[in-house]
Amino acid sequence: MRKILLAGNWKMNKGIKETEKFLKELKNEIEEEIFEKIDVAVFPPFTSLYIASILLKNTKIYLGAQNVFYEKEGAYTGEISPTMLKEIGVKYVIVGHSERRIITRENDEMIAKKLKAAIEEKIVPILCVGETIEERERNIHKEVVERQVQEGLKFLKEDDEFIIAYEPVWAIGTGKTATPEIAGEMQGFIRGKIKEIFGKEKGEKVRILYGGSINSKNIEELISHPEIDGGLIGGASLKKEEFLSIIKNSIRSLK
Ligand code: PGA
Repeated sequence: MRKILLAGNWKMNKGIKETEKFLKELKNEIEEEIFEKIDVAVFPPFTSLYIASILLKNTKIYLGAQNVFYEKEGAYTGEISPTMLKEIGVKYVIVGHSERRIITRENDEMIAKKLKAAIEEKIVPILCVGETIEERERNIHKEVVERQVQEGLKFLKEDDEFIIAYEPVWAIGTGKTATPEIAGEMQGFIRGKIKEIFGKEKGEKVRILYGGSINSKNIEELISHPEIDGGLIGGASLKKEEFLSIIKNSIRSLK
């Protein structure tokens, strides 16, 4: 059984003060029992990671980062290395989010190197893949996602731990959530590719999350789909009440 992961991607939101308030409240209000059934992680921006790591010490809420560079140190102005993230206590890192692929022009080669570099520091990368609306309309969405998966994973070995997040670009921040059928179909396709690359056993083990306009109302039916092992949640993870409702409602689908 793959354990559900709910990952709150804060994007460029919440500085130190807001992070402090949010996490103090979250850790007080979250119910301990949920951690037996699901993993919960938050992904603050870089400047809030340190305070978040202090606040999350001795809790079961995991810490994640939204990006990483592929070198350990050196003349790379503006970048943050996996070693630095490890020192802060980061467990997961998002790699290849569509906002980075599109706005900051990250390509598959960079993304592949980032995954490898994260794994070398024992940080679990979450590789984001997903097609644009034009690609879906042209019926090349599977081809696009297949390339992103194959290229992104090309430096990894079977026993490296990684997670995939299927995030159709047309569903991110638009309120147009993919139906469980659409997401499930693509995620089954992605799992098939992972089996082709690393073998059946690994393919069965890898967690594949869905991301794109998840909220407390649609989480239950999404998670109920056998191919959806959790969610990468943007906007709805910023409000504590909504994030707590998402957690609660996803537990319902496991019963
Ligand atoms: P959203 O973002 O939930 O606001 O659509 C998801 C993501 O980009 O990870």
